[in-house]
Amino acid sequence: MPLAGRWFAENGLWSVAAAILAVLRIDHAKDSNGDRIEVKPEFSTGVVIHPEPFHCSFEVVNTTREAHIRAMMNSK
Ligand SMILES: *[C@@H]1O[C@H](CO)[C@@H](O)[C@H](O)[C@H]1NC(C)=O
Repeated sequence: MPLAGRWFAENGLWSVAAAILAVLRIDHAKDSNGDRIEVKPEFSTGVVIHPEPFHCSFEVVNTTREAHIRAMMNSK
């Protein structure tokens, strides 16, 4: 079964969230001066409410785990 199919199965979201948190540090984005860009929480209005896009940065914290995830994503 292709990995994408497995990841999007019932419990797949938890696997993806766990894998992301194990590999990436998610932090504020930085502007051209290196100062962090504060996030102003904004949400859409309507029947389905979702957060509006915001800037952030992703930094790999463990290259070994990153390699594992990349290998998993490239395998069938
Ligand atoms: C990175 O991940 C590997 C595999 O899970 C682990 O053995 C290693 O200790 C981790 N390294 C760091 C610096 O956390």
